[in-house]
Amino acid sequence: MFPWIEWCLVGVLLVAALIPIGRRARSRTGWLLVILAASTAGAGAVLWQSRLKRKVVSRQQIIDKSPREDRRDGYVRAETCQACHPAQYASWHRSFHRTMTQFATPEAVRGNFSNITLRLPGEAFHLTREGDEYYVEMLDPDWRYVQLLKSVAFKRGEGPQPPMEENPPRAKRRVGMLTGSHHMQAYWLPSAYGNMQFSLPFTYLFAEQRWVPRNDVFLLKPGSTHLQQVWNNNCLNCHATAGQPRQDPKTHVNDTRVAEFGISCEACHGPGQEHVRANSTPLRRYAQHLDGNPDPTIVNPSRLDHRKSSDTCGQCHAIRHRPKQDDWNLHGLRFRPGGDLEGCAPRVIYDGTGLQLAGNEKKRELMEGCYWPDGQTRVSGREFSALADSGCFQRGQISCLSCHSMHQYADTDDQLKPGMQGNRACLQCHQEYAGRLEQHTRHQPGSPGSLCYNCHMPHTTYGLLKGIRSHTINSPTVASDVEAGRPNACNLCHLDRSLGWTAGKLRDWYRIPPPALTTNQQNLAASVHGTLVGDAGQRVLWAWHMGWNPALEISGTNWIAPHLAHALTDSYSVVRYNAGHSLRRQAGFEQFDYDFIGSNDYLFQARDRAIGIWRSRQTNTGPAHPPALIEAGGRLNEAKLQSLLQQRNDRPMELLE
Ligand code: HEC
Ligand code: HEC
Ligand code: HEC
Ligand code: HEC
Ligand code: HEC
Ligand code: HEC
Ligand code: HEC
Ligand code: HEC
Repeated sequence: MFPWIEWCLVGVLLVAALIPIGRRARSRTGWLLVILAASTAGAGAVLWQSRLKRKVVSRQQIIDKSPREDRRDGYVRAETCQACHPAQYASWHRSFHRTMTQFATPEAVRGNFSNITLRLPGEAFHLTREGDEYYVEMLDPDWRYVQLLKSVAFKRGEGPQPPMEENPPRAKRRVGMLTGSHHMQAYWLPSAYGNMQFSLPFTYLFAEQRWVPRNDVFLLKPGSTHLQQVWNNNCLNCHATAGQPRQDPKTHVNDTRVAEFGISCEACHGPGQEHVRANSTPLRRYAQHLDGNPDPTIVNPSRLDHRKSSDTCGQCHAIRHRPKQDDWNLHGLRFRPGGDLEGCAPRVIYDGTGLQLAGNEKKRELMEGCYWPDGQTRVSGREFSALADSGCFQRGQISCLSCHSMHQYADTDDQLKPGMQGNRACLQCHQEYAGRLEQHTRHQPGSPGSLCYNCHMPHTTYGLLKGIRSHTINSPTVASDVEAGRPNACNLCHLDRSLGWTAGKLRDWYRIPPPALTTNQQNLAASVHGTLVGDAGQRVLWAWHMGWNPALEISGTNWIAPHLAHALTDSYSVVRYNAGHSLRRQAGFEQFDYDFIGSNDYLFQARDRAIGIWRSRQTNTGPAHPPALIEAGGRLNEAKLQSLLQQRNDRPMELLE
């Protein structure tokens, strides 16, 4: 920064430069103008400088309280790579990987901090913005953490029961870091425990432009208590590059280090120091560039075999056992791209005999929330686990890079390679289907029913408040519904059809033997059965599909609204969220006003309002459609609907996305 002497010099030079203008004006006003201009410029410069200085101090304050970005053992950061790889730097810079973890600056913060109060039962959070800084005034999170430690000690019989506090202390904290930049954003507050970060228990949703309690963004048991999450011991593995928690087990003080916030070059290419050093001589650079051989000083995932290449992604996009706590705490995940991931953090396996937890039985309930009862992955962000269960992976050479590219992608959303949004993704290996598409799919060539993905990678995983394509590549069968409750691809598009209908077509077209079905499975639309009777994990997927365009186009839409109306009162927030979304996609409901976290009374009123709108749009001449519970004259079969609601599977469940 300029010291004040330099600023004086700038002022003198400015005046000198303006003298000729003053001379030309030849009048007192001319000189006055010159002096005025010079002093305005001077004052402006001083102000500008102090603003710059404030910015620097303000940024340093966050940096001092955050995990340190200074892991030096071989890591160099993305900026070092930029000089020699500007194109890859640019494509990475556009990606959501980069902005996964950021400092809370005005460029990064999307949440509304304009002097508002957010509430949880019995608790208020006051959010403000002061200049470029963001603050939360709330129950002191350090005090809360101490309470948590005390109650854990009490439960273990290692301490007295913590007393109920009459007036728990409050504190005003500056937001230091944030997570997410695509669908939603979570925020972190510094603590008194070194650079440990506590979560703000609210998430800002971009699509709705609103705050929502964190528990309402996930599929959790209704009424779950709000946990104060810690970034350092949890999120850093997948949301930063080469993180090391480094928590003192006695004092709980963190001295967390990462190579870089966000998912940066070295997360996928390994530490780059040696590579940068080797290539600092122009001669080697040219030689390397020309010979086209692998550079032994850095890892290029596209040169690895399909397993090792997918491991690069699978260090984060998978369900894994954590390495031994002490080692992990100190060193973080020891895996480096190209190395032995299974040895560092073995994949959790759910096979024919159940969930294999290697003695860690405490985790069973939590982990079961990642899988359908037949062992297929049902949560988002765990694509490696899903793909590794596919024939294409086990008996073929498919990898994440068959369809995705981290540098040459068509769209930052999903980062698919150009052309891989369609059937080419599969035909690159299964060429034999190219010439006989219609024979295989039984749908017209341009139909959504002829897109390989729609039958072989349906949206049977859930996360980020939506249905997401399963990355286990397999074929539709009705057996998956019957045995595991996992909806088959045909009924997820043909929402108005029953399992019996699909089983018949699969028998006629593909000679798949139909399983034994109950009367409801035989006659009732699978989507209706799923939204009324299914468990929360099924209900949320069906509710999402009731707003999925391809499904709405083939299934007819005039019968969907009353079923979604009932889902507006579901006990699980995320089912209500999706029901509200899908309802707004039905004719007549485009402007439907609905708040999925409204009071109970409000939710039931919303349901009645929705049914009212639907009734007012029904004509008396509409045909009966029994699978969807529609009787002749367009009336809803209320009795049947109520009796199905009575049979709802209310087992408490959580999906660990
Ligand atoms: C095992 C790796 C892993 C861990 C641990 C993990 N995440 Fe994630 N997270 C992911 C992946 C992968 C995605 C992207 C999911 C997708 O696209 O389906 C994601 C997505 C997110 C998003 C959405 C981001 C956006 O831009 O919309 C948020 C918010 C988030 N995670 C928060 C957290 C928090 C908070 C923690 C710690 C409590 C955490 N995650 C721990 C892997 C992980
Ligand atoms: C999320 C993982 C990931 C991140 C982050 C990442 N890369 Fe890559 N990189 C890959 C993969 C995978 C390939 C193989 C080709 C592809 O997918 O486009 C690759 C290929 C490359 C190549 C080979 C040339 C090419 O384009 O195929 C270079 C050079 C490269 N990356 C540099 C970088 C730099 C520099 C950064 C950071 C600024 C970076 N990468 C960030 C995964 C990543
Ligand atoms: C001083 C220049 C320089 C810097 C800095 C540099 N690289 Fe490279 N990199 C090269 C050269 C030269 C090659 C040879 C290949 C080419 O240019 O086509 C290369 C190749 C690569 C490849 C492809 C290797 C292969 O075998 O296919 C990757 C991946 C890569 N660099 C990643 C990185 C990453 C990540 C960083 C930052 C940590 C980085 N590079 C920094 C010069 C550099
Ligand atoms: C260090 C952890 C990490 C690694 C390594 C990693 N990812 Fe990710 N990935 C994430 C997280 C976290 C997100 C969520 C980012 C978001 O949406 O804000 C994500 C998001 C994505 C997305 C969705 C982007 C979007 O928001 O639409 C794709 C696709 C993806 N990753 C593919 C890959 C592939 C392919 C690889 C391997 C070449 C890979 N990732 C390596 C953690 C990782
Ligand atoms: C990298 C090559 C590759 C890609 C890409 C690929 N597959 Fe495969 N797939 C294979 C191989 C190899 C097999 C095993 C064939 C065998 O066992 O005879 C296979 C098996 C299958 C099976 C049978 C599965 C089983 O468990 O029996 C189906 C269904 C399938 N693929 C569909 C697809 C679809 C749909 C896509 C695109 C979404 C796709 N594949 C992409 C290579 C690939
Ligand atoms: C056969 C092609 C194919 C392969 C192989 C594949 N993906 Fe995908 N992936 C897709 C498609 C298609 C989508 C969804 C695009 C959409 O719906 O817009 C997707 C979406 C994703 C998303 C974003 C999910 C979301 O909506 O938030 C992530 C993350 C992802 N893939 C990661 C991976 C990883 C990691 C691997 C390797 C383990 C992998 N994918 C392998 C085709 C593939
Ligand atoms: C309308 C749904 C549908 C679409 C679309 C579809 N398939 Fe299939 N596919 C099936 C069904 C059902 C089976 C199971 C047949 C069986 O078990 O014999 C199957 C089986 C397969 C198999 C395994 C065959 C075997 O012998 O094990 C492959 C490979 C395959 N499909 C590839 C593709 C490709 C590639 C595409 C896109 C070009 C595609 N499918 C599109 C429904 C579909
Ligand atoms: C992503 C949406 C989608 C999926 C998945 C899908 N279909 Fe279709 N289906 C359509 C569309 C659209 C049509 C209209 C005709 C066409 O496009 O070929 C159709 C037409 C049909 C028809 C003839 C019209 C009727 O309603 O009787 C049958 C039968 C059928 N599909 C059965 C199936 C079966 C069985 C599966 C699973 C193997 C399946 N579909 C998967 C969208 C889908």
